[in-house]
Amino acid sequence: MVVVLALLVVALVVDAVEALAPGAAPPPGEVGLVGASVHAAVTAHARPSQAWTILVDIVQTARTRASDARIPGGESGIVALVPRSHRVPGLTLNRLSVARNALQNQGISLIDLTGSNPTRAGLRYPDDLLGPLAGRAGLDYAPDPRGLLAARAAVGAELARHGASVDPGRVVLTASTSEAYAFLFKVLCDPGDEVLVPVPSYPLFEILSGLEAVRAVPYPLDPHGGWSYDAGAIAARVTARTRAVIVVSPNNPTGTVLSAADVRAVSACCTTHGLALIADEVFVDYRLPAATGHPPTVLTDTTCLTISLGGLSKAVGLPQLKLAWMAVAGPDRDARDLLDRLELVGDSFLSVGTPIQAALPAILARGAVVRDQIRARVADNLASLRRHLAASPAVQLLEPGGGWTAVLRVPSTGSEETLALDLLERHHVVVQPGYFYDFPSEAWLVVSLLVEPESFARGIERIIAATAMESDKITQGPR
Ligand SMILES: Cc1ncc(COP(=O)(O)O)c(C=O)c1O
Repeated sequence: MVVVLALLVVALVVDAVEALAPGAAPPPGEVGLVGASVHAAVTAHARPSQAWTILVDIVQTARTRASDARIPGGESGIVALVPRSHRVPGLTLNRLSVARNALQNQGISLIDLTGSNPTRAGLRYPDDLLGPLAGRAGLDYAPDPRGLLAARAAVGAELARHGASVDPGRVVLTASTSEAYAFLFKVLCDPGDEVLVPVPSYPLFEILSGLEAVRAVPYPLDPHGGWSYDAGAIAARVTARTRAVIVVSPNNPTGTVLSAADVRAVSACCTTHGLALIADEVFVDYRLPAATGHPPTVLTDTTCLTISLGGLSKAVGLPQLKLAWMAVAGPDRDARDLLDRLELVGDSFLSVGTPIQAALPAILARGAVVRDQIRARVADNLASLRRHLAASPAVQLLEPGGGWTAVLRVPSTGSEETLALDLLERHHVVVQPGYFYDFPSEAWLVVSLLVEPESFARGIERIIAATAMESDKITQGPR
């Protein structure tokens, strides 16, 4: 069996490489190496179903390497001699970052409308906010892979503020929401499995899933319903390899908030197809009046296996403390199995520091003052944005249901990238073009609502002035 498989893969690899790079098939020695590694891998994994998965992975790797061979050094220009994983893309700077660095090197001051780091947004953090981190409890190392019980109970209390009743036994702590995604992908997916992700949404999904050898399959939000969720669009993308559906509520950047009916529809879809629902609710505290009537968390309306994500980085504006959480709901058997497996992953890393876990109840209580300032900042900037746009109908605000960002629809004669570059180089304003978030059409700009109000207003004025010129070009046509 093993020999047959090894021969089969040699033939497939040669075919794959020839097809992608004619005349560039690896020398027989390298093909022999591939065969040998298949042999080693397959004997170590005796089951035929696993052997097939290994073969598919090896052939895909050979294909990718062959296609890479056509661009030595990839985009970064670095030609590495040691083979590396294709899960990790090369580090590349986009054109906007290159242009921004060049301007900053010339000492030109820019208005940055992309800043989303609360600790650099001019908010007032109380001097004694981090005092609880110095408590004696932090000197004792007695790790619990799911997180210390008192910390998990504090998360339960946090979720109770949003109307959900979650037993601390169903809470798992991680160092960040990104790490929570990584843990979930490890537990829910095999390499090559799929998770469904909303578009437009958080750009990190593709990278986070890719790092776990999982495919992020986009499902569109409905542009005609204010980028609302559409369970039909999700169901249409389910395949035999789908393992989970991700929703983000409030969504970054559109601010979309799930209604109770949305939650029930997505949950039913997950139950029908045997999928987990991962709800990124990091912005739950920043719902706006437009979300009135919608449940704060999916936990109150879901019936399938559901994992709600939250964390300190948004809840109290303290990303540097590195603590996030997963709250698991749904049928008991599924939930217990997931929690057991998460415990095993957590035990392998034990990544959350003891001092922050011990201090969590106090930090959550004290951090409320930061949260209140963020809410006030977002509300002020939104009001200022509406005032500015009232006199400039060419730029339209997509009314958000929550979150820290605003999405603007702008007229453009060129691409979003050209517009963003023009704003940067001629008007010295930094914005994110919609394509960073995979908006399906142009032209959209995304601005952060955390920016200091005076800079925010000046930045918006410059956007309006720049897009007024674009609008004129559109109405006058080519000369
Ligand atoms: C939707 C969403 N999820 C998660 C995160 C990151 O959270 P963490 O800092 O806990 O990894 C962000 C950060 O902007 C986000 O926008």
